[in-house]
Amino acid sequence: MSAPATESSAAVAERRDPHAVLEVVDVSVRFGGINALTDVRLSARDGQITGLIGPNGAGKTTLFNVITGLQEPTNGRVYIADGDVSGLPPYKRARLGVARTFQRLEVFGSLSVFENVLAAAEFRHSWSDDDTPPRQVAAEIVDRVGLSTVSEERVDALPTGLARLVELGRSLATRPRLLLLDEVGSGLNHDETAALGDLMVDLVRDGTAILLVEHDVELVMRVCDRIFVLDFGQIIASGTPAQIQKNPAVQAAYLGADTHAAEGEPA
Ligand SMILES: Nc1ncnc2c1ncn2[C@@H]1O[C@H](COP(=O)(O)OP(=O)(O)OP(=O)(O)O)[C@@H](O)[C@H]1O
Ligand SMILES: [Mg+2]
Repeated sequence: MSAPATESSAAVAERRDPHAVLEVVDVSVRFGGINALTDVRLSARDGQITGLIGPNGAGKTTLFNVITGLQEPTNGRVYIADGDVSGLPPYKRARLGVARTFQRLEVFGSLSVFENVLAAAEFRHSWSDDDTPPRQVAAEIVDRVGLSTVSEERVDALPTGLARLVELGRSLATRPRLLLLDEVGSGLNHDETAALGDLMVDLVRDGTAILLVEHDVELVMRVCDRIFVLDFGQIIASGTPAQIQKNPAVQAAYLGADTHAAEGEPA
């Protein structure tokens, strides 16, 4: 899991955030002629929600794919907790505590809500030393994500917004240390979005670090401790929600009128 001995001191030196459970260092991804990511540095901390925002095509999902091991970067490294995971396949990263949801849903449509979450709880049970019965884990999580009333429904019969919550539940069933959420609030109504925000705040209090990709600026500004802004594959700003809202480069690239809406002013 660790970098070769000759690289280890350099690897330690290149890491900058001592509180990070995730650290992305100088990651670049090229798809043919497209620079999807260029020298991206980002960290996510225990007990915090870290936002990752930016316009369509900025590279957010590509970065999630690099962090989870689905996309090999052209350059750069990924650290989870104390280890360099850059060469590890996705399933090994999952066992280190990384879980995600997918922007384009990857649920088991013909299974029920409960069975989707149970599948993940069973997988975790097969590798972890936690003896909690998977059915108990699944029932608790279905309740926690607010899906008890549709627990026995097939997932392909649900509206997209609720199917996203199934993905959230499935990721939670692996008891992640680092949770990557790719537009998990998309398709939810106002009340459901508010409940999702409260759930995320609860999760980080329980010790899960969250990296949140989300276009709902109001939600991002409400729940995030720190925010990174991607534009054309490059981090153009990072800081607290207040700092990001005031940043002229971010307003020009992404926030625009939504910034005022998030502050309660007329758009
Ligand atoms: N597998 C791929 N092959 C070629 N190009 C890709 C591939 N995946 C992504 N891209 C390109 O890389 C860039 C970044 O895409 P990505 O999906 O990461 O953006 P995003 O920030 O998640 O956008 P959105 O907000 O629309 O979800 C885009 O130009 C996209 O067309
Ligand atoms: Mg995306």
